[in-house]
Amino acid sequence: MPTSVADQHWLGTEVDIDWTDLRSAHAQCRSVLRRLAADSSLLTHLVDRLADDKDLLADADHHPVMDRLTLWHDPDRGIYLRLHVSPGTNELIPHDHKYSFTTYILRGSYTHVWRRREGSYQGDFTSDQAPLGLVTSERVGSCYTLGYSLIHQTVMEAGTVTLFMRGPKEQARSYAALDMLDRLTVDAATEPVASEQRRHTDGERGLGFDEYLRLRDRLSAQGVLEPSVSPTDITTTHPERRPS
Ligand SMILES: [Fe+2]
Repeated sequence: MPTSVADQHWLGTEVDIDWTDLRSAHAQCRSVLRRLAADSSLLTHLVDRLADDKDLLADADHHPVMDRLTLWHDPDRGIYLRLHVSPGTNELIPHDHKYSFTTYILRGSYTHVWRRREGSYQGDFTSDQAPLGLVTSERVGSCYTLGYSLIHQTVMEAGTVTLFMRGPKEQARSYAALDMLDRLTVDAATEPVASEQRRHTDGERGLGFDEYLRLRDRLSAQGVLEPSVSPTDITTTHPERRPS
């Protein structure tokens, strides 16, 4: 690679995000993510760290619409930095989030649907209470901040890679137009489940070490990461980490 100690250090010393002011948080996160997007050596180093850091690896997960790696987590400085990779499935259910966040698009693109929120500004809502607001096209270099109570949908090109910084948890759970789940259920063989028991995030689980290795390999093939350490090298270096 190699990445200098100074380059590794700026995330831990120079960054302090104020999530109480979203305009300020957006400017701060955009600056961090642009800087990181331009430094593939540092980004490669951050992704490779998961092979050595069991806490970061344990925080990686497979979400219904993306795989997510945690690259840096320092709550005292308002930093929760992740890298997301979309398999090409879509967030078809309008939803909000437990936290506000900023996204920067590294590869790929997606159609982004922003919806208005009628009725209560927070909490449960149905699709009828979330009329269309705005449709944007997010491309490489796009960067936006979404407040936790805002409702959106995304339709992603397969292989879309984003850098993501999220703020502190603002609500116990996210909310979604669950009435749309019934319209989207196409597998008649699936055991019916009461809508109140289902979540738009059903299927979320931890990411296995072998899945991390494959993901890191794909990111390298896409040119997002440098091919500095092969998956074989990582496994050999860390014999206690057997692919699951
Ligand atoms: Fe979302």
